[in-house]
Amino acid sequence: MNYRHAFHAGNVADVHKHVILLAVLDYLLQKPKPILYLDTHAGRGEYDLRSAEAERSNEWQYGIGRVLNVQFNSPALRRYQHIVRELQSQLRSTHVYPGSPLIAHSVLRDMDRRVLVEAHAEECVALRKCMRQQHELNLTINDGDGYHALRAYLPPKEKRGMVLIDPPFEASDEFIQLQQGLKTAAERWPTGVYCLWYPLKAGGLVNPFYAALKQSGLTKLLLLELWVRPIDTPLGLNGSGLLIMNPPWQLDVHMRTALNELLPTLAPEGQGGVRVQWLVS
Ligand SMILES: C[S@@+](CC[C@H](N)C(=O)[O-])C[C@H]1O[C@@H](n2cnc3c(N)ncnc32)[C@H](O)[C@@H]1O
Repeated sequence: MNYRHAFHAGNVADVHKHVILLAVLDYLLQKPKPILYLDTHAGRGEYDLRSAEAERSNEWQYGIGRVLNVQFNSPALRRYQHIVRELQSQLRSTHVYPGSPLIAHSVLRDMDRRVLVEAHAEECVALRKCMRQQHELNLTINDGDGYHALRAYLPPKEKRGMVLIDPPFEASDEFIQLQQGLKTAAERWPTGVYCLWYPLKAGGLVNPFYAALKQSGLTKLLLLELWVRPIDTPLGLNGSGLLIMNPPWQLDVHMRTALNELLPTLAPEGQGGVRVQWLVS
């Protein structure tokens, strides 16, 4: 496992993912009943944007660096800006970017349960340290495999909640693992809300993933994609997608507005695009 999210924290893909993560959580938190938040590939929780890793590629400058001070209209974008700023002020630094565990934690209530899984030993130690500072009660941190966690923690006793599956895409069969992971999880807990992250790169690597999901028998699958340069540009990450199973009501409508408003800020050269589409409705 060589992947370190510190090189990429706060980049375009993180902004896209975390805007949607917050929108999904906000919807689930409307009811006064506890939920489970399961983050199968949690990362280290917070990232120093002045670290050697972050400075090597400065990816955050094209992501959160472009987004934080823009005057947006979309409530989802304003909410995201507000939460990131609040966490930065809590962490006493504008050079810190919060990862998914911290972003989720900042909106979850005491009664909600957090399960964070991070397989990389050093990252997991950092995650424990980060979450300790949050005085967290209703929290499990697991240093095992994120896909195994789908079997271990689902279905949850709360019967409501969401699962974020955000793997590093180091393994050549990650798309297959992702699709099989969703199938396993959905068999155990068909009514959960699932958010699966995937990269958009040249070569149509994502096409067999769409095809397998279409044939899987799973329903209510929504694609929320954003790219900042033409999708067939060779080398590198051109954009990212989140596949949402059982999306909250009208998430497609709200995210179409939000992502279209976000696009010109993240792709000022006008080479990007947004796709909000039901893969299976
Ligand atoms: C893309 S990063 C996660 C970013 C995080 N979800 C966020 O949004 O802030 C993927 C993480 O998965 C971890 N990882 C790699 N293989 C894993 C596995 N099999 N199970 C759990 N975590 C794994 C990596 O160490 C890395 O920290």
